[in-house]
Amino acid sequence: TQNEAFRNEPFVNFALEENKRAMEAAIAKVKAGLGRDYPLHIGAEKIVTEAKIKSINPGNVDEVIGYVSKADQTLAEQAMQTALATFETWKKVPAAERAEYLFKAAAIMRERKHEFSAMMVLEAGKNYAEADADTAEAIDFMEFYAREMLRLAATNERQPLTPVAGEDNKLTYIPLGVGIVIPPWNFPLAICVGMSTAAIVSGNTVLLKPASTTPVIAHMFVELMEEVGLPAGVLNFVPGSGAEVGDYLTTHPKTRFISFTGSKEIGLRISRLAADTAPGQIWIKRLVAEMGGKDGIVVDETADLDAAAQAIVASAFGFQGQKCSAGSRAFIVESVYDEVVEKVAELTKKIPSGLPEQNYAAGPVIDQGSYDKILGYIEIGKSEGRLIAGGGKAEGNGYYIQPTVFADVDGKARIMQEEIFGPVLALGKAKDWREAIDLYNDTEFGLTGAFFSKDESRIEEALQTMHCGNLYINRKCTGALVGAHPFGGFNMSGTDSKAGGYDYLLLFTQAKMTSRKL
Ligand code: SER
Repeated sequence: TQNEAFRNEPFVNFALEENKRAMEAAIAKVKAGLGRDYPLHIGAEKIVTEAKIKSINPGNVDEVIGYVSKADQTLAEQAMQTALATFETWKKVPAAERAEYLFKAAAIMRERKHEFSAMMVLEAGKNYAEADADTAEAIDFMEFYAREMLRLAATNERQPLTPVAGEDNKLTYIPLGVGIVIPPWNFPLAICVGMSTAAIVSGNTVLLKPASTTPVIAHMFVELMEEVGLPAGVLNFVPGSGAEVGDYLTTHPKTRFISFTGSKEIGLRISRLAADTAPGQIWIKRLVAEMGGKDGIVVDETADLDAAAQAIVASAFGFQGQKCSAGSRAFIVESVYDEVVEKVAELTKKIPSGLPEQNYAAGPVIDQGSYDKILGYIEIGKSEGRLIAGGGKAEGNGYYIQPTVFADVDGKARIMQEEIFGPVLALGKAKDWREAIDLYNDTEFGLTGAFFSKDESRIEEALQTMHCGNLYINRKCTGALVGAHPFGGFNMSGTDSKAGGYDYLLLFTQAKMTSRKL
């Protein structure tokens, strides 16, 4: 219950037959409802448009997940006006009451977790464990941010003010206004839920523009919030194109903040657009942007090499490498290089690829654009390194690509520097562990990293010198847990907003000091 301290939602063990069967049943149930139409939600209105986003299963491209109505600028404006009007009432709702909606939604999502996961298996191409982790993280975000709001609302708990005789001083955190929430498709439930509910529980109203490849799972979340009685107009669902709806809302004078997770290119574009002030605008827009990564793992000669190889493979190929946290690079010390390379190649070649609904470890990438881009990088890799696993398309009626590894890649190579966001791993050789860390740090990004060693003093130094937001020792660099591993990165990885941490709700609030003479 909400009176207990936050704990992470446990992952489901699909090695147990009953859990596997429960997921299969949920997939069958979701499949029976595929191909429906989904409306926009603007206030209490459900709006069906002629223009539609067609969401398909990336693992079986003939299967339509659903047809989602698409906002244009007129509808986006209507949504903005609704969110502005609703803000005037929502901001006055007590924090505890706002938090209650999140606690209720988390409880329902927990009960129906396999249904949410099943939708991601079909719409995003996740295997069971990846989908389950996504749903668990969504539950965690709601449980965590609800508690965070209660903590923030407890006056003077966050920052005890220095007592002054004859004064009653208070610091309160009040909401900002209307926020545009633009989540990614790769954690199409967790990050969508986390970004939206953090803004909502802080007292803001939201225009949610879901990722165009995963709008149906986003709609499931919107329906859930409706089911728990969240007042109409607090969370508005406005799917649409980035160029039309995204830019319109980003540049809108009444937009108070933008919360974005996605690519560096789009994040920088939003940053530029949001920096300008439109006529009538009376604030500087706040931007929370979580962008890409070129994350990696450093292995020294004292490390447990089997564990290191397993972590490299898990970090590179979990959800086909489509995580901002994915370990797409590894630097290995010369004396153990060949051995680690061999182990990584062997493990990679064993990864079975196929339909997500049959729970193959490797599935498709998200869409044709990603597929073409990743295959393009594989061709570049063939001239930049030695191909030791994969190297091209994989079988299936979808966007399947073989888990691919290149060895002997130079630190400056394109496949070492550019975010590929797919199942492509580059391995590089370093003369010693310090050079390996330098190679790791030679990037414009700075999201996640891992260091494998048994040497205490090296570990101490690596903790200081590896420059990234989430640094792990002797484990993989993906899979941050809400509350345990506040998540966000440096430099071109974004604004280091630390989702799932104590600092996050501050991004959606402003502090107001009041001093009363006694
Ligand atoms: N939080 C995820 C991870 O750590 C990435 O978004 O893998």
